[in-house]
Amino acid sequence: MRDGPIGMFDSGFGGLTVARAVIDLLPHEDLVYLGDTGRYPYGPRPLDEVSRFAHQIAGELVERRGVKLLVVACNTASAAALESLRDRFDVPVVGVIEPGVTALVQATVTGRVGVIGTVGTIGSGAYQRAVAAESDDVELVALACPGFVEFVERGEFDSEQVHVLAQRLLAPAKEAKVDALLLGCTHYPYLARTLNDVMGRDVVLVSSADETAFEVRRALADLGLGRPAGDGGDATATFITTGDVNWFEELGRRLLGPELARAERLSW
Ligand code: DGL
Repeated sequence: MRDGPIGMFDSGFGGLTVARAVIDLLPHEDLVYLGDTGRYPYGPRPLDEVSRFAHQIAGELVERRGVKLLVVACNTASAAALESLRDRFDVPVVGVIEPGVTALVQATVTGRVGVIGTVGTIGSGAYQRAVAAESDDVELVALACPGFVEFVERGEFDSEQVHVLAQRLLAPAKEAKVDALLLGCTHYPYLARTLNDVMGRDVVLVSSADETAFEVRRALADLGLGRPAGDGGDATATFITTGDVNWFEELGRRLLGPELARAERLSW
């Protein structure tokens, strides 16, 4: 079991922010990443449909690829299916919502915070509940940002159009004078420059990627599932897409780095 890979999935490229953090923190662990680019975006879909996709992908990773731990590197899928995935599978399942909220509450000084995410994530109330459970002292502005994911999937991160959209969507967070803004969609760190410009430099942008990687390390250690650090000379990273392989390799390599040399195509 200790030699199995860590499994991870997202609707597309967004979870690569989490993959990067896990590869950096745990370079001796094998990783299998599945980007469901054939069916992105998840954000506008009903949560029960996203849950169905999440279960199908988790089945592929756990039952066919033998992953020892599953990371739901997608906020929308975490909001839709984290609990039911934990009920169904024997392997530990790590989501991105709680780790992000922990980092957000640590980052704020004024107690006025924001979270941005897809329509599905924000509409689910998952962040509102998680923040209330973490602290009584914070005031949260939760904003859906339809359109951001599509820009990232096209490889467009700081165009005039992204800027204009961000100005409109983030206006309520600026008005509320938040001092920390959680990027509650794993695609959004790729828009950080634009989001920073719009929010101003005194607002801290919080991504759940690093905190999620720490959670993965903790879970592996607690369960005795971690590969010893010296063992990883031959650690591998495998990338799977349900969409266009060439585009996944091209944009994925730009976003993640050289580890994404090749991707496999999966059709259901
Ligand atoms: N990256 C995903 C998230 O964190 C999903 C984005 C989408 O497909 O709409 O929510």
